Amino acid sequence: MRHYNPQRMILSPAVPLSVTANPASELVTELLVIPVFDGDPLEDVPGLDDAAGGHIRRAIEAKEFQGRPYEFFVTPLSGWKAGRVALVGAGKRAELDTERLRRVATAGALGARQRRVTRLAWLVRGDIPAAAAVQASAEGLGLARFSIDQYKSSEKTGPPVEEIVIAIAGGGDLAAALERGRLLAECCNMARDLCNEPSNVLTPRELAGRASTIARDTHLDVDVLDEQALERLGMGLLLGVGRGSVEPPRVIVLTHTPRAGTGSSASPAPVLGLVGKGITFDTGGISIKPADGMERMKTDMSGGAAVIGAMRAISLLNAPVKVIGIIPAAENMPGGRAIKPGDILTGAGGKTVEVINTDAEGRLVLGDGLWYARELGATHLVDVATLTGACVVALGKVASGLFGQPEEWVSVVKRASHVAGDRCWPMPLYDEYAEQLKSEIADIMNSGGRPAGACTAAMFLKEFAGGLPWAHLDIAGTAWAEDNKPWQLKGPTGVAVRTLAELAFTSDEWK
Ligand code: BES
Ligand code: MN
Ligand code: ZN
Repeated sequence: MRHYNPQRMILSPAVPLSVTANPASELVTELLVIPVFDGDPLEDVPGLDDAAGGHIRRAIEAKEFQGRPYEFFVTPLSGWKAGRVALVGAGKRAELDTERLRRVATAGALGARQRRVTRLAWLVRGDIPAAAAVQASAEGLGLARFSIDQYKSSEKTGPPVEEIVIAIAGGGDLAAALERGRLLAECCNMARDLCNEPSNVLTPRELAGRASTIARDTHLDVDVLDEQALERLGMGLLLGVGRGSVEPPRVIVLTHTPRAGTGSSASPAPVLGLVGKGITFDTGGISIKPADGMERMKTDMSGGAAVIGAMRAISLLNAPVKVIGIIPAAENMPGGRAIKPGDILTGAGGKTVEVINTDAEGRLVLGDGLWYARELGATHLVDVATLTGACVVALGKVASGLFGQPEEWVSVVKRASHVAGDRCWPMPLYDEYAEQLKSEIADIMNSGGRPAGACTAAMFLKEFAGGLPWAHLDIAGTAWAEDNKPWQLKGPTGVAVRTLAELAFTSDEWK
């Protein structure tokens, strides 16, 4: 398996991880990072306090360090092979789950990075089974390597970490878990890099080029549909959104076919269709957005980036089902040829849409994307999109909105997101919401007004799912972190990458 290369196009550095069973005192490293619980006697790390000259006991007794989540305490060591130790608060031991461990690992690695440490060791502790703990640790440590300084000509964030060792007692063969965690973190960071790119660099054509480059290192098949191909397929919704821009729209199709030895015997075999919103900039179009904060709309392709990142992981991990990733990409601009409120567009499936608000463009491009996923044989659908401000109002920046049908399929997606550590929360699709989308003149309108804005947007998409099992993740609030947290850097989060990758391994649960 090849690793993520720090080429010009792939920006965040590779993750130099390894795993060892050596005891803490034998770890040769600059900084030994240890998760410490609330009231933790640290009995499994004998000699630590002595090597720290009694400073750990003193800090705990003085309540300078209490083991509360993400607290950080650094002190020198003598007589051990590590130069210093960092304790990272991990909360109550009984409450430790993979998500807490992942976040604490990120907090540890970010703390090390702040101190310009280039070689660190992470000691796995707690009661999570070894493989799951190593995977979560690798993910968390890898996620901390994300960097956003590629456009800075100076003031770079310091030397990249050269070595990360994960230490775990006993454990057996943990190479696969390490590799899986490393890869998922890398694919998340790739998606984050894409989200961070400005729209003058990352146009729909450039996004297609990046997806093709990313796929070159994998076994994915890539197909990029240009405007002629989109015309031929009749994708009038996507073409309509793209019409205001001089940058032509694209549809990116990435296909994973399971390689020999992993094929399931289920027949007919299910095919997972992942559709990600790829608006490389959303001005709102003729229904233009206010200037304040509009720069954030360069991230309106976060759903598409999540699908690209997930497809890379799905291919390199050789998921046991066929998966088709589709990214309808366009730039939503005002212009002499732009669509206008009241215009009627016809989707590839023949549905007519009255465009009430050109700023409700995501659902338009996803409508054609979902249709194409079905056309290519998808039996189970998930779309991911920074779709509505209303979803941010409903759930804040804490959870993505989860919609879909039937309930069994929505539950499968919910479980995958829980395992992945991407929080989402179920939202309703009551029939009544369809009333808000009724058009006098066409089959449907693209805006249902202010009430239940996230729900009516999802209701619009449901029309294009063709009755298949379908789930929709509205990541408008979760794709971008507004401030730095101990466990997460400000900026693009890579939300949904790990969920979609995890989902591709759950086909036993699909109906
Ligand atoms: N890309 C936006 C949604 C968005 C808002 C994403 C905030 C991230 C942060 C989407 O295309 C949009 O403009 N939605 C409109 C829909 C409305 C016109 C029906 C909205 O939410 O206001
Ligand atoms: Mn919009
Ligand atoms: Zn948008």
